[in-house]
Amino acid sequence: MPLPRVLLQLDCDPQPSTFDAIVAIDAGVEILLRHGSVTPNSVVSLVHGAIFTRGVSDLAATAIFIGGSDCATAEAVAQKVQQTFLGPLRVSLLVDPSGANSTASAAVVAATRHLPSDPLAQKSCRALILGGTGPVGQRVARLLARKGIGVAVASRSLARASEVCQHIRLAVPQAVLLPVEGGSFVERGSAFEQAIAQADLIVAAGAAGALLLDAAGFALARQAKVLIDLNAVPPAGIEGIMSTDKGKQAGDAVLYGALSIGKLKMKIHRRAIEQLFESNTAVLDAEELLAIGREL
Ligand SMILES: NC(=O)c1ccc[n+]([C@@H]2O[C@H](COP(=O)([O-])OP(=O)(O)OC[C@H]3O[C@@H](n4cnc5c(N)ncnc54)[C@H](OP(=O)(O)O)[C@@H]3O)[C@@H](O)[C@H]2O)c1
Repeated sequence: MPLPRVLLQLDCDPQPSTFDAIVAIDAGVEILLRHGSVTPNSVVSLVHGAIFTRGVSDLAATAIFIGGSDCATAEAVAQKVQQTFLGPLRVSLLVDPSGANSTASAAVVAATRHLPSDPLAQKSCRALILGGTGPVGQRVARLLARKGIGVAVASRSLARASEVCQHIRLAVPQAVLLPVEGGSFVERGSAFEQAIAQADLIVAAGAAGALLLDAAGFALARQAKVLIDLNAVPPAGIEGIMSTDKGKQAGDAVLYGALSIGKLKMKIHRRAIEQLFESNTAVLDAEELLAIGREL
């Protein structure tokens, strides 16, 4: 008889996310073990419990999900989990703090449907990520940069945007990145105005309820083929995009809102949980979730 599928939900927040718990159950997890306030120091014994209880051939029936609102801690926990595995004594791992990896993957899947598929042509594309310093924006920027797309990362603080670009370059040394200072007001003749005008793709990944591009700013996006707003809380992150827009044509551009991207995000999240139980060796981070999203 096959062993029940057990998922360890390791959350860096004191209360493990109910959202992640329900998605796990809907994706077929039979036993969910939920732990809060997980840190790199406290995770070792939890991993030992996962890898020492079943034979190697049965370890595909155990998996680990790492979540929480503090993405840096979650990434440190994920690193510690992998360091704790002992050769074949390991289980599959999904890292999706704040839903940032699955959301960013969904946005990139939607965006790249409308950009050239040829890798050489992609290198001539430019993207602008508004609110690009948050967990979702940083991952959107990283995924696009890995494809060779030039990415402008916008923030209200040039220093924060520069820091994010440096961080992405550590993961993607060949990345073509430009930090840009820009909030919701577009100053004439600014680097922000230029980045808007030159972008083939604009993704608004600002905080919930923050307007990042008003109608006047939107009108400057003359070259944009795709605009995506990930903020579902009014007012919209990009004025003129409805949260339900799904590939809606607006002049030469197509528009996606947060709810349509959210549906794709949910499919990626569920499929990723299913994939955890197909082997004991999967490590699913943003790049792997993007690959899952492309196949859906
Ligand atoms: N559709 C979905 O399924 C889904 C799933 C998860 C998240 N989301 C949404 O995706 C978006 C990004 O999420 P996140 O967690 O990465 O966001 P976040 O960390 O809350 O915010 C992202 C960035 O927005 C900027 N920001 C914050 N307050 C602002 C304000 N008042 N005005 C202008 N900019 C402001 C900040 O950048 P600077 O301080 O550097 O300017 C911040 O780093 C959110 O809107 C979230 O609700 C959607």
